[in-house]
Formats: sequence, structure tokens, C-alpha cells
Amino acid sequence: MTYEPAESSKLTAYLGHVVSPISPTTYVDYDQGALLVDEEGVIAAVGPWAQIKQSEILVERIVDFGKRLILPGFIDLHLHLPQFTQTGKSGQTLLGWLQANIFPAEAAFSDAAYAGRIASWFFDELARNGTTLGVVFPTIHAEATDIAFKTAAARGNRVVMGKVMMDFNAPENLSEDFNVSLQESEQLCKRWHGHDRDRLLYAFTPRFALTSSANLMRGTARLWSRFDGTYLQTHLAENKEEVDVARHQFPGARSYLDIYDGHGLVGKRALFAHSIYLDQRDFDVLSENGAAIAHCPSSNFFLKSGVFPFKRAMESRVRFGLASDIAGGPEMSMFKVMKDATYMQFELFISPRELFYLSTLAGAEALQLEDRIGSLAAGKEADFIVVDPTRKSGVVEHILSQPTDEILSAMIYMGDDRMIVSTYVRGVPIYETDETVFRENLAYTDSFSERESLCKQKG
Ligand code: GUN
Ligand code: ZN
Repeated sequence: MTYEPAESSKLTAYLGHVVSPISPTTYVDYDQGALLVDEEGVIAAVGPWAQIKQSEILVERIVDFGKRLILPGFIDLHLHLPQFTQTGKSGQTLLGWLQANIFPAEAAFSDAAYAGRIASWFFDELARNGTTLGVVFPTIHAEATDIAFKTAAARGNRVVMGKVMMDFNAPENLSEDFNVSLQESEQLCKRWHGHDRDRLLYAFTPRFALTSSANLMRGTARLWSRFDGTYLQTHLAENKEEVDVARHQFPGARSYLDIYDGHGLVGKRALFAHSIYLDQRDFDVLSENGAAIAHCPSSNFFLKSGVFPFKRAMESRVRFGLASDIAGGPEMSMFKVMKDATYMQFELFISPRELFYLSTLAGAEALQLEDRIGSLAAGKEADFIVVDPTRKSGVVEHILSQPTDEILSAMIYMGDDRMIVSTYVRGVPIYETDETVFRENLAYTDSFSERESLCKQKG
């Protein structure tokens, strides 16, 4: 716990059971903890409330969540906004599913009014599920992408996003000229990258090798290198049939990853969704270049794509975190994604601690944003959620009095959006239940005398 009081900034203390990952196997744990947030949304201190209360720190406002959990918000490393209308439509593997369900749904985003409606719904649902940062694929439409950015900007979500690019072998109504695709991407990047103190960040988004020409990929690599802090996101080796098509299309490449590498698309801030069918050399290339993987277990189940080589990814020290891949995965809730990540590994238990890390700090590390988000620590931005597992039916009433590992376990194996009490991005609530308001009122009355004495201490 460190604290540099900025004289002018008024602090809010969020009281509750603060749990925040440090590594895959360790976390900080204050069961009567406090998260102090300044007016800029930066965390001023994290620690036991009893200790902070005794210190010189002047607290302006208290929101008391009792025994409820205060956790870093979830980071969903890969999901598709236009596919939100298609969740739960099963029956086919990747390439057939794209043709039957996904491409028609994406084509509908040529209609700006429709694009706006779905974007509002999508970003509200992310907040309701406790996801504070989504790495999002919209569609090829520049206008719909602009609307998606505007919607996230207005609603307070944190996003990494960029217009989808497709200039080869795509349905006619979703196909573009590569020069137009590059120009529109550049314009959107200039308009949105870094918006609101880097709350919105741009990702250049060639969909996957199958719908990309060599020109598109090379042009994208050049663009990506021109704009500091931007991302490159695409799909990689998700499905065996897809891998075969890719290798026929680019016969000179050593592997699917090598197609991207050969066109300059592998490096820091490159994010590859799925990455199931990789060999050791591919893992080494990702690791050595600081590139990252969005592991999408629910989607890999749903589309019967295959099993992510989790152990090999860990051993290769590749940066990777979890993702819902809506609508490849049917559920936006990162609780479900965490559960599927361990269910999917038949010979491996991934512990609740590690799953918690994978859906928070690991995502920030994959995005090279671990200095700013992903865990609750002084100096980081206050992206956090309040979780109450007892809001879900079937969870034992006294769960919040159990050891922290057991609370995390119940949350992960039984969790859904009902457990989320509120969601904050950089100290601003973007989702609140009645319970949040109730807790705040309670704090104002019950802790009033305490506040008085705190004010007096400060003089
Ligand atoms: N590969 C290329 N496009 C897609 C997509 O929309 N979803 C998934 N799961 N894989 C893809
Ligand atoms: Zn995807």
C-alpha cells in the first residue's frame, strides 16, 4: 500500500473484500479492505480499511459493500459485436457457421440505425457482465465501426477495436478493395485511437488469412507500425479445415502463423484469437516477439474447433488470456469462459486462482497494459467490479464467510451476470444494481461519525 495524496483530489473509499491477482498463483486479499479512488479514476491506495482509516488519508465519500468482493474488472480479449444477435446458433463447424449465420448478420451492419441499436445493447451487456475491457471485432463498415466507437465512448466502456478488413474470398456484400480498407482504417484510427486518455484504443483487424490478400496484410503491417500503441488482431489456426485452406492459399508459408509473420503481422500488441493448431516453433515465434493469444475455450467447445494446448502455451511463456469470442462462444460472462477453460483441459485442473488471473491481469499483460489495468494497485486505473455470489440461486448463503479460494471457486463454477453488483471503469460506474445505491446510502448514514472524525484528523 503506497499513497501520494494529491491535496486537491477528493477520494472515494470502496469498502469490501478486495482480491486482486499478482501472478497465476498469488493474489492480494483484504477481507475488510478498501479501494481508494481519486477523482481522475486512479487508485490512490488498496489495503485493510482499519489501517487506511487510521492514516492521514482524507476520505470524502464511502461506498460500503460489506463482505462482497471487489475485484479487477474482466478483460475479454476477443469478441464480435455484430454477432451478438447470433449467440446460441449451433449445428456447424467454423466455415459453414460463418457462411450460414455470421456473414449475413454482419452484412446487416450497412444499416447505421441498426448498427447503433446493437452497439448500445452490446456495450451495456458487457458492463452488466463485469467486463471492463473488450477487444472487439465490429464489421467491415466504417460507419458502423465509428458508431461502435461513439457508443463505447458515451457509455464509458474501455475497448480495443478496429474496422474488420476483408478483401479476398469474402461474400460480395462484405468485400472491399484493399486500398479503401486501409484508408478507412487509417481514418478511424486517427479519430479514435487514444480517445479519453487512452480508454479507446485502435486495433487493425484483418479478419483472417482466408479473407486477406497479401496486399492487404502488407499494407496493414505498414499502417500498424505508423501508429504508436495500436494493436493488430486476427484469427489464427482455429479449425483444421481452416488451416488447410490457409496453407493452400499461401503455399510458401511454413505454418499458418508464418503467413502472418511473412507479411509483418507478428509483434508486440499483435493478438491472435484461438491459436489451437500451432507447433512449438510457432509458440516460440509468438513468445520471442511479445505477441499474444486470445484463448476462447467456450467457442472452441461450441464450434467443436479443438482443444487449446494450454500447457504448452504456459511452458512457452506466451502472453495469453481468456476471451468469450461472442458468438463463436454463446456466453458473454467471463465466469462461464473461466469454467470452460478448465473443463476443456481433460488432463489438467486449472485452479480458480489461475482462472481469475487469466480473465484479469493476464489479459492486461497480453495487451501490454499491465502498468495501467488488470489488477487493483496504487497508481493503476480503477477498473473494478463488485461481486456477490449469493445473488445466484444455488450458491450457499454463507459463501462470503468461506476462505477466499472457495469463494473464487464458487464464483467461477457457478457464476453468471447475476453475481455482478456493479462495474466501474476508471472509477466511473458503467453498471449499477439497486444494491449499489443502497450500499452508498447506508455508508452515508452509518459511517457518518467516522467521516466526521476523518475530516477532523485532516484539520
Ligand atoms: N475466423 C474468421 N472469422 C471468424 C469469426 O467471426 N469467428 C470465429 N470464431 N472465427 C473466425
Ligand atoms: Zn472471433
